[in-house]
Amino acid sequence: MSEKLWDGRFREKTARIVETFSASIDVDKRLYAYDIEGSIAHCKMLAKAAIIQEEESRTLIQGLEEIKQEIEAGQFSFDDSLEDIHMHIEARLLTKIGTVAQRLHTARSRNDQVALDVRMYLREETRRIAARLVGLQQVFVDLAKTHIEVIMPGYTHLQRAQPVLLAHHLMAYFEMFARDTQRMQGCLTRIDVMPLGAAALAGVAYPIDREYTARLLNFAMVSANSIDAVSDRDFIMEFLAAASICMVHLSRLSAELILWSSAEFGFIELPDAYATGSSIMPQKKNPDVPELVRGRTGRVVGNLMGLLTMMKSLPLAYNRDMQEDKVFLFDTVDILSACLDIYIQMLPKIKFNASSMEEAASSGFLNATDMADYLVRQGLPFREAHSVVGQAVSYALNRNKELHELTLEELTSFAALIQEDIFDFLTTRKTINRRTSYGGTAAETVKTAIAAAEEQLSRYREIGSSPQ
Ligand code: ARG
Repeated sequence: MSEKLWDGRFREKTARIVETFSASIDVDKRLYAYDIEGSIAHCKMLAKAAIIQEEESRTLIQGLEEIKQEIEAGQFSFDDSLEDIHMHIEARLLTKIGTVAQRLHTARSRNDQVALDVRMYLREETRRIAARLVGLQQVFVDLAKTHIEVIMPGYTHLQRAQPVLLAHHLMAYFEMFARDTQRMQGCLTRIDVMPLGAAALAGVAYPIDREYTARLLNFAMVSANSIDAVSDRDFIMEFLAAASICMVHLSRLSAELILWSSAEFGFIELPDAYATGSSIMPQKKNPDVPELVRGRTGRVVGNLMGLLTMMKSLPLAYNRDMQEDKVFLFDTVDILSACLDIYIQMLPKIKFNASSMEEAASSGFLNATDMADYLVRQGLPFREAHSVVGQAVSYALNRNKELHELTLEELTSFAALIQEDIFDFLTTRKTINRRTSYGGTAAETVKTAIAAAEEQLSRYREIGSSPQ
């Protein structure tokens, strides 16, 4: 027996530096459970198709199950001369059960094996992430309901624009994360395809039953082309793209939390348990969690770019370059999962400072559009109304006043048709509650949106933890 499982044709031992350089065991050992589950299904299929004997299959499965226990008990030794997790498990099987272990790799290659393992891994992680996203959507619905009365300034260009309900702003995030949930769900369709049986690239010359293996492993489909099966990493690119978009959403949320918790805004207070102090300035309470979420978004986007760049010039089918895919993938899964978990816990504990939000919404001419709307209702064309209000704003600015702080006489000097009812018309709450267009910020409209969101979430709950 030669030292490596593949070194029959080699006359020289692999250089030690090459073993270290090419080993992926530190990264791919986390695939061990999928590798073993996939191998067990493969054994069962080989026996069913009479490619190996029932007795051999049983011995193999028994050995594989024991190896799983050894790994889980921390009794398995990893060694980079064995390259990757597939080689480790196969080599251990050989020492455990003897030469029958050599039958396991019949009608299979590491190329289809690694594709299978990653698909099984990612299918599970994507379902978990989708479930976390539903949890996060629920957090936003709960926050919106709790703060349904709170008014805040809405912004464009980070300049105060028009007053909105805080609940409306929060429900914007609900929509963003709802799309992320759907994107993860969409990824699952492309992940859930069983590649085993493609072998190295051309399929196999044994009477294998790929449908049977797929059924054993709960795959929805079997890959249709053996070359594609071993060279396809679209499902990882797609997941990394969906993860990047989701992280961009979390990062924008983080940017707002950081701004809002500053003394300049004073809109929120982060929970003490989720903030940190400064080692030099005793008064500081820093928003480290949102900063780290925002910072890690860079890594997740980088992982997507890394994989795309790694794949872009690869001829079909498998190339060793592709071993690097797991570095990008695992890092992204870990970051995204951790960011979702920490926000699900932290967001409900944020204190919203309703009075400073409302105060900010009542200055800065946020009702200027509404004054123009008032004039339109009295018959003025919008453009003319816009210009009249512009003059009134400039007049008020010079006197350090808001529009609703001008007297009726001052206001009528800009447009004679203004009447006493303008003051009621310009109150912040009225301004908000007039915006009843579908998707708008009026309280009634926002309540309808919240009800629709709850309906969506209860549908997810009905069909189980993972949204369909
Ligand atoms: N460790 C390899 C990877 O992750 C497994 C496949 C190796 N295949 C090969 N022909 N060297 O991609």
